[in-house]
Amino acid sequence: MDQIKESKVIGVKTPRIDGPLKVSGSAKYASDHNFPNMAYAWPVCATVSSGTLTALETAAAEKMPGVIAVYHRENIGKLYRTPPSAGFTMIIDEKRPPLEDDTIRYYGQYVAVVVAQTMEQARAAAECVKATYSKQPHNVDEKLLSSALTTPKPDEKSKRGDTTAALKDAKIKVDQVYTMPVETHNPIELHASVAVYDGDKFTLYETSQAVVNHRDVMAAMLGVPPDKVQVITRFLGSGFGGKLWPWPHGLLAAACARNLKRPVKLVVSRQMMFQSVGHRPAIDQRIQLSASADGKLTAVQQDYVNHTSIQDDYDEGCGEITPFLYSTPNLLVTGGLARRNVGNPTAMRGPGAVPGLYALESAMDELAIALKMDPVELRLKNEPATDESLSIPFSSRHLKECLTTGAEKFGWSRRTPEIGSMKRDGLTLGWGVAACSWLAARSETEASVELRQDGTARVACGTQDIGGGTYTVMAQVVSHETGIPVHKIDVVLGDSSLPPGPISGGSWVTASMTPSVLEATKKASKTLLELAVKSEGSPFKEKKADELELCDATVRIKGQSQGAVPISEILRIARVNAVSGTGKSDGTLGPGKPKFSFHSYGAQFAEVTWQPEIARLRVSRVVTIIDAGRILNPPTARNQIEGAVMMGVGMALFEETMYDPRTGAPINNNLADYVVTVNADTPDIDVTFLDYPDFELNPLGARGVGEIGLAGIAAAITGAVHHATGIRVRDLPVRIEDLLVPVGQKMHVA
Ligand code: MOS
Repeated sequence: MDQIKESKVIGVKTPRIDGPLKVSGSAKYASDHNFPNMAYAWPVCATVSSGTLTALETAAAEKMPGVIAVYHRENIGKLYRTPPSAGFTMIIDEKRPPLEDDTIRYYGQYVAVVVAQTMEQARAAAECVKATYSKQPHNVDEKLLSSALTTPKPDEKSKRGDTTAALKDAKIKVDQVYTMPVETHNPIELHASVAVYDGDKFTLYETSQAVVNHRDVMAAMLGVPPDKVQVITRFLGSGFGGKLWPWPHGLLAAACARNLKRPVKLVVSRQMMFQSVGHRPAIDQRIQLSASADGKLTAVQQDYVNHTSIQDDYDEGCGEITPFLYSTPNLLVTGGLARRNVGNPTAMRGPGAVPGLYALESAMDELAIALKMDPVELRLKNEPATDESLSIPFSSRHLKECLTTGAEKFGWSRRTPEIGSMKRDGLTLGWGVAACSWLAARSETEASVELRQDGTARVACGTQDIGGGTYTVMAQVVSHETGIPVHKIDVVLGDSSLPPGPISGGSWVTASMTPSVLEATKKASKTLLELAVKSEGSPFKEKKADELELCDATVRIKGQSQGAVPISEILRIARVNAVSGTGKSDGTLGPGKPKFSFHSYGAQFAEVTWQPEIARLRVSRVVTIIDAGRILNPPTARNQIEGAVMMGVGMALFEETMYDPRTGAPINNNLADYVVTVNADTPDIDVTFLDYPDFELNPLGARGVGEIGLAGIAAAITGAVHHATGIRVRDLPVRIEDLLVPVGQKMHVA
């Protein structure tokens, strides 16, 4: 790969170019789109979680004020399933189109949809549609390990040596079960779809982390060619994976628009967000570790089961990181599914790795205690030289430095390991640590770049900015290559008609789009230099294009700032409005064994304060050291890690979707009862990037950030809770009642 080392813009603090639009309220999110003659749709949701819809009475609703139509299985019109998916196309989690049959498989499944003149009218009428069900017993039980319906089977990458033999003989062992409840994505922006149909073509304003996939799925399900669907997502109030793939409401909105030949807006309510747009599944994991007396791992075994829906197989993939994080001769990861009457689970920030690392890193903490060894030391001791799961080299791995730098910044050497032994201002302190990792990848990307006579540039790519800073980073890349200032670069994203770009998932947009944007810029520049030597009246006439270069938004003779001519002037002389170029880069995720193990790494250090007298637990301080390749824009990268740490506090202490065993309904389906971390819960967060470029991945050496920031946080926090209280919580989230002192046990009060 080319290596770009020096830059005036890359790695330089650059304010978000979309910031002014967002703070002034002029950035348009999906539900901000309004059209003349627009109608509003509101779904009717099943109130049982297993059974059959036996009758649907719509007559009363149809007569209500403003009601235009009530659609159900018999009158919604044709909707299709998608053909098999290939690569990053045609992906959808809930494969059954809405209203396909009368079988109810989860609470909140759509059974009808009301369209009216206003949203209030649609909602009122939807509440008056009378559905009758023949109920069947449902299962929303969160105990999974004992009830997996599919046999766990080893993944080929995830087996080496013989864990059974190694564990049997081991003297120092950990064997524990760690569980996580369902977590629901709660981005501020609700899921929403505004569908416009002109009799021929659909224009869909969506909350999508993947507009190109969204277009392909919607075209397939509506039964039209992909060029008859355009999906637009200019801004996203974040998604966390919940908006990666289409959900049934989008298809309902499109079908209503098709049937009525008028624009239809459907906004999913916060309550429905808990039912039918995905969640992180409940997960049980058994971790078995063994080590020699000097702390070298001899076996690692992880057996996980996650719940999935009745119809679709969602595998959380908790063994994503386990096979290569530490050196061990014996390793086994198995996975299994347990079917439940719930909506389909989906990717949630750091899918697989985040839950997997919660369990693995908790077990590592327990192993350190069993060994009477410092938990940082234990991790340093088990650093592998290569990726032992695939026998390939790491492209760039600095986990040891993450741990040592973090220990230094956190003040880890002052830690006394005895439970409850550390105090500050009358509070008991607990300190915990975890290592983390997340995949790094490139996916196939196309982009186009235009250099224009008015001194601006335009870069376009069919990816989207979900809040992480993609708009700004794209402008930085074009600015790096041309010298055109960032504020003079229009970045156009979030439209499926643009050159196909990466999904905003896997934290890989930056790594993916960089090579193709660079190539497109280079091609546009080359055309410009040719114009400079060919155009009548150009001061570079008679020179050769390869004697020239583009620098600081001017064309000049290589290395000579004297006689430099602005790009805009060359284009004016040539009487050309703009020169353009396209770029295309390949992916790293294809079949076959990769040449390198591409991953980001990190170390998370957490401090909790514990007041046993009033049972108050707080996360007071987090030091996070991230090795994610080169950081292109430090403030947006830091912002992502800070947000992820907040989410980690929520995962450790608050977040849990609860299902009513009587009905199977998610009952804490609102932001009062489903507790997410808020500003008042924010610890002091110290983010450090090691900033080692990974030139095996792309010319700028960027791996991307986002998900890595959440990985390891919950284990660091539960480790800290144990250090403060002596109580090891293995079932997330940590509840205050878990920490109340058991009868007969002494409180750790000074
Ligand atoms: Mo992420 S869970 O890949 O949006």
